[in-house]
Amino acid sequence: MTDRHFMDEPGNLSDSRNPHIQDVIARRFSRRSLLTSLVAAGAVAGLGAAFPLRDALAQGGSTLAFKSLALKIDETHHVPEGYKADLVIGWGDPVAKGAKPLDLANQTAASQAGQFGYNCDFIAFMPLPMGSANSEHGLLFVNHEYTNGEMMHPGVKSASENRAKADKAWTEVEMAAHGGAVVEVKKEGGAWKYVADSRFNRRITGTTEMAISGPAAGTDRLKTSVDPSGKRILGMLNNCGGGTTPWGTVLTCEENFNGYFGGDAAKTGKEAANHKRYGIPAMERSWYGWARNHDRFNIEKEPNEPNRFGWIVEIDPYDPGFQPVKRTALGRFKHEAATTVVNKDGRVVVYTGDDEAGDYVYKFVTRGIYNAQNRAANFGLLDEGTLYAAKFTDEGAVEWIALEHGQGKLTAENGFASQADVLIEARRAADVVGATRMDRPEDVEFNPVNGRVHVMLTNNSGRGEKVPLDNANPRAKNSYGHIIEIIPPGSEKGEPDHAALKATWEMFVLAGNPAEAAHGAMYHKDQAETGVWFAAPDNVAFDPQGRIYVLTDQGSAQKRNKIPDGVFVADSEGPAKGLFKLLFACPIDAEMCGGAFTPDGKTLFLSVQHPGEGTNFDSPNTRWPDFKAGQPPRPAVVAVHRPDGKEIGA
Ligand code: FEO
Ligand code: CA
Ligand code: CA
Ligand code: CA
Repeated sequence: MTDRHFMDEPGNLSDSRNPHIQDVIARRFSRRSLLTSLVAAGAVAGLGAAFPLRDALAQGGSTLAFKSLALKIDETHHVPEGYKADLVIGWGDPVAKGAKPLDLANQTAASQAGQFGYNCDFIAFMPLPMGSANSEHGLLFVNHEYTNGEMMHPGVKSASENRAKADKAWTEVEMAAHGGAVVEVKKEGGAWKYVADSRFNRRITGTTEMAISGPAAGTDRLKTSVDPSGKRILGMLNNCGGGTTPWGTVLTCEENFNGYFGGDAAKTGKEAANHKRYGIPAMERSWYGWARNHDRFNIEKEPNEPNRFGWIVEIDPYDPGFQPVKRTALGRFKHEAATTVVNKDGRVVVYTGDDEAGDYVYKFVTRGIYNAQNRAANFGLLDEGTLYAAKFTDEGAVEWIALEHGQGKLTAENGFASQADVLIEARRAADVVGATRMDRPEDVEFNPVNGRVHVMLTNNSGRGEKVPLDNANPRAKNSYGHIIEIIPPGSEKGEPDHAALKATWEMFVLAGNPAEAAHGAMYHKDQAETGVWFAAPDNVAFDPQGRIYVLTDQGSAQKRNKIPDGVFVADSEGPAKGLFKLLFACPIDAEMCGGAFTPDGKTLFLSVQHPGEGTNFDSPNTRWPDFKAGQPPRPAVVAVHRPDGKEIGA
């Protein structure tokens, strides 16, 4: 989701939070060394900005053989020579059995609930048959993060007009366009297509009934007037990032759930501070008409309903009848990503981040161990274990601090009566234990080749003012974002211990234009002379060789930066570590999401989210991907591959 969506959201940073590690003295990146790198970047730019990538790099340095796209924004997408992008499925395409095709003039909740939803985001590719490494046939699980009503139907000029005009029936269309989709896909005759009548195909929406498990399930703070059990929840909302498990399920992450609710937090009694910390807006600032039209989104009527959102949801895409489960042991916040690693001792580690300016990076470590022989035995694995928040010291250490009730300050005296309270208010628990406030943690993913964990920190214009500087977040008014590598102990021996309580960290990239000294960018020393740069790293993926694919989301800053959002690729090791090329450019005002490789590394599935955002149905600035008169753009999934059959990137 872009920043634009947050423009009229009240700030929800509490000023009473942790004193910052700015005050810790010995700096990993001293001001002096940062300045040196700025000067160096400017100097290189001054000498060589107009020259193409040097031959030496093209020949020997980088393992990337394709020619980078130019940084140009237009109404369509682009791939390099020798690559193609197949349109796989887009908003409104029939998914479930018997679903109708999209009828723009007659959209109903019932028709939308059978069709591919809006704003595709995270993608998982799950091979068919299950457990195989088939790279030409499988299931896609795709998130539908949010809706742009002003792009979906005529006569509405803007998001705020959509909110003001939405009646009950329209809000139900929007709810049906949220959630996720399971879609069977196949590569046939050299092109990827979805299978329209597959028995696996399924839509999950903002009203699908789901279960909830783990320490917070069934506790009082999850009970509502329609669900006195606190265990039966309708829908998942704002599912953005995600991950897959080794047992073949999907973890899909609820992110900005706050904006669907509305009301005066002060009138919600003991939930008031909680709602404020998570940014539940006043009724008139609610992002949609839902809270006005449906009591469950009105916090004054149902103060506990927001506590039922902001979780990681587990779904088995291979079982069309599987009831999704919200796993509370992984904590409640604006989850971005759920990257799963089986640790060397068999425990499962899930890395996740909280996408808010000044919030935290987390990991969860299961108590039990993964059972490779018995798939069913793993389905409760994520219900018991320890959630940790990360502290990044200025000296380059990472300390993982357990969020366990009864330990340290996580006691009744501080308002945590149980582990359920710690998990429901995971943000406040992390505040209390002194985790490091980060520049909007987005995707967190581990590199399968070197075991390092990469954290995308997308931007934070309030850094240096609302949140003090530190070495892990070193730029004031961080407009461009950065990427940190967490190095678990044992990585150098090829045996990373992801469950360890300590690790180290290094800065991988400070994004921005390395040819503009004022940006304070830091890349490979030769990046500036290529002319390629990016801003707002959001999603990340690794190919089987360990190359890093950074997917960007500049939001409204795309206009200022004048570069497209897309996929920027670099080697993650070796002489060309951090030397990026542009592999895929999005159409105008779209954000790049997804980033799922087939096991052979030959296909990369991408979500083109909200093309044309900021315009409207009646006068869009692109009609991607159909380019049909009178029809708005459609968010859609594309499959990038090479007709010569070789791996992406190579
Ligand atoms: Fe939905 Fe944090 O991106
Ligand atoms: Ca995003
Ligand atoms: Ca990812
Ligand atoms: Ca983003």
